[in-house]
Amino acid sequence: MHFALPPRKTSQPPPYVRNSNLTAAAQRRRKQIQLLAYGVLGVLTLYLFFKAFRSFRVADAHEDGGSSIDGPQNIVLVTVFDHATMSKDYMAIVTANRDDYAARHGYKNFYTNTTTYLNLVDPSPSSWSMIPALRHALTEMSSSTFFWHLSADALITNPSLSLESHILQPLEMLMLKDIPVVPPDSVIHTFSHLKPARTHLILSQDIDNLAHTSFILRNTPFSAQTPDNWAHYFLDAWFDPLYRAYAFQKAENHALEHLVQWHPTVLAKLVLIDQRRFNSYNYATPPSKDPLTGNTRTHDSMWQEGDLVVNLKGCRDGAKRDCEEEMRYYFAKWMKEVDRLDGKKPDHDLRPLKTKPVRQD
Ligand SMILES: *[C@@H]1O[C@H](CO)[C@@H](O)[C@H](O)[C@H]1NC(C)=O
Repeated sequence: MHFALPPRKTSQPPPYVRNSNLTAAAQRRRKQIQLLAYGVLGVLTLYLFFKAFRSFRVADAHEDGGSSIDGPQNIVLVTVFDHATMSKDYMAIVTANRDDYAARHGYKNFYTNTTTYLNLVDPSPSSWSMIPALRHALTEMSSSTFFWHLSADALITNPSLSLESHILQPLEMLMLKDIPVVPPDSVIHTFSHLKPARTHLILSQDIDNLAHTSFILRNTPFSAQTPDNWAHYFLDAWFDPLYRAYAFQKAENHALEHLVQWHPTVLAKLVLIDQRRFNSYNYATPPSKDPLTGNTRTHDSMWQEGDLVVNLKGCRDGAKRDCEEEMRYYFAKWMKEVDRLDGKKPDHDLRPLKTKPVRQD
């Protein structure tokens, strides 16, 4: 079969072709009108911009309320265990540590596990379960005001520090203002005029990412004045099926980084503080050279005596590390600290480490 030839171009000139018959004077006039129009548009844009900016600042100033988070809070620690990879002993150690901490300060613990959310999370990586787990905790303990999500591979090493005195009350001094929200050089920066009273999410960064293995989320218990709950919105947005299906390289961590950079509604409630305030790692971060600028970046991640938390981040990622062994080292330190504080050892006793199963690789 033969195709018809393509239609030929019409010989009629299109109507928008410049009429070359215009006199020079008419052309000049046209240019002037154009310039004037640009000028008017420019002025209008500037005017609208400043108007919007001013009303934004005014709204900001009004909405703040008190500028700090005062008094004792109703706090919940949220822990998600993974029975497939963590031994009973390991989970018992972590539980003993967190029960002690909660009892000291009148907090509550919410323990759950990845299996519970399997149906929701599958086929995405099980690390996503921290989000429905938090949502679960917010539903079960809806009158609590702050939820601290702390990785199950972390231990509280300075139990006498309360979250109120260590983080919430001094938040104004701790918050890192106007820095790239995602390391090393996101063009999106944290707000420079955020007030603690308007903060709903407290996070830190390690050298590569938002360190979402420890963060504090603020809940807004329902009342006639506060029918909206930002924490619910945030978790639902983060758990969006679209993000889960997108297969970010670092799963929910990268989804969170996307969220804070592209959604001002999230950025506006976010505060970044120094990592070691509540998420020290049990290893130091070596200085790294930025391939673009040639500058050397340093970052302080290494746990030191007195830090609130030690996090064994990445201890499941390779054969070189061993969560159980690393955990027991810090657990022994913690038992000493409890002994020093209370004059007696905690109830939970550390059993000798079972010999490791020999790796077959
Ligand atoms: C996981 O948590 C659920 C409650 O959310 C509990 O019923 C279940 O027993 C737990 N799984 C294991 C293996 O302990």
